[in-house]
Amino acid sequence: MQKILIRGGRALRGTVAVSGSKNAGLPLLFASLLTPERCTIRGLPRVADVTTSLRLLERLGALVGDGEFSTIVVEARTLTSSEAPYDLVKTMRASFLTLGPLVARTGRARVSTPGGCAIGSRPVDIHLAGLERLGARICQAHGYVEAEAPRLRGARITLDFPSVGATENVMMAATLAEGTTVIENAAREPEIGDLAAALGAMGARIDGAGTSVVRIEGVRELGGFDHAVVPDRIEAGTLLLAGAITGGEVHVAGARADHLDALVAKLEEVGVAIEARADGITVRGAQALGRADVRTAPYPGFPTDLQAQFMALMTLGDGQSVITETIFENRFMHVQELVRMGADVRVDGRSAAVRGVATLSGAPVMATDLRASVCLVLAGLAAHNTTEVSRIYHLDRGYERLEEKLSALGADIARVRT
Ligand code: UD1
Repeated sequence: MQKILIRGGRALRGTVAVSGSKNAGLPLLFASLLTPERCTIRGLPRVADVTTSLRLLERLGALVGDGEFSTIVVEARTLTSSEAPYDLVKTMRASFLTLGPLVARTGRARVSTPGGCAIGSRPVDIHLAGLERLGARICQAHGYVEAEAPRLRGARITLDFPSVGATENVMMAATLAEGTTVIENAAREPEIGDLAAALGAMGARIDGAGTSVVRIEGVRELGGFDHAVVPDRIEAGTLLLAGAITGGEVHVAGARADHLDALVAKLEEVGVAIEARADGITVRGAQALGRADVRTAPYPGFPTDLQAQFMALMTLGDGQSVITETIFENRFMHVQELVRMGADVRVDGRSAAVRGVATLSGAPVMATDLRASVCLVLAGLAAHNTTEVSRIYHLDRGYERLEEKLSALGADIARVRT
């Protein structure tokens, strides 16, 4: 078992580079199933979710190769299986994104349903309703979804909620459908625009990705692509918050301010100075840290994936902040651990009242999910004495070399095996 040990209290200083986006990279990997040609994905972060995706692509018959400088090459020349098995889907929900590409390319797919996860029940009904509208016959049995369609047909689809995954699954499936698909109430996250750019390079005809109405003209076949993923806005936001919570000064090279408007606005509201430039974003800790209410929302609202990290900052703010989580029903698992570090947080339904305290104190704490784990790392960076974060396999699913990046900024942090 591995743990992260942090001796807190050091202000972080210096420049750190943001990695490529995990959440943009995963759908790009599965988009490679749409074509027999070679797909090159540049800047993929080396995180556990990427490794899981590559294993899944190999199980389906794709050839996967490592290029230089975080480049991955996938060639799904022939597919030997159209089944995404439970053992891989259960460790990573994004595996469900194989459903749309597989049914579009091979006419059938059998994909395990992901089941619940720590942060909520996370059903897949919106994905399935969308694919049904495209003419797929969907049947659910024995924990699997089976989808069949000799060829999908374009349709007008209104999503019940702007689900990121459902938008991606339907968009990928529609590229090979006959006729035009219009997705209304589509998710607008930057990762959707990035996927559309790669699909466009493959020969797909897509308009409006990144807005709430996406239009796709189906084509008969698609070619390969060579695409660099967008910078990871959630990692960038996390590193900015690491600079802010330690009262330091950190430049996050490659961070895109246009993808982080909601966070930047909140940081400025609490007195943290932000300077956005073409090459990245610099954060300078507040003289006197204020308070702010935050409500998570689909993009361009405040990202649920930064809620826990922002809460860590607000545990040290002056006054009471109310943090409301609207995307996932159970995303406050970090609260009890923050409280063990001396934070004053009370949860009432979907809201948490965070009353700022003067200091946090280091403690042994347990990570419960990806973003909760990094929230505890941030709290540990600011806390007195030593914080020991266990169950860090959650962290490794989505953060590339986090301890290395934070150490280079002056943090006293190390990974230990127990
Ligand atoms: C993606 C991100 C995740 C982020 C989330 C919200 C990836 C790999 N993951 O997850 O990091 O936290 O967006 O920004 O990109 N829902 C349904 N039915 C569905 C689909 C979703 O009810 O068929 C609900 C979910 O339970 C959840 C909400 O919609 O409450 C948002 O989910 P969604 O946008 O689909 O998130 P993911 O694509 O799973």
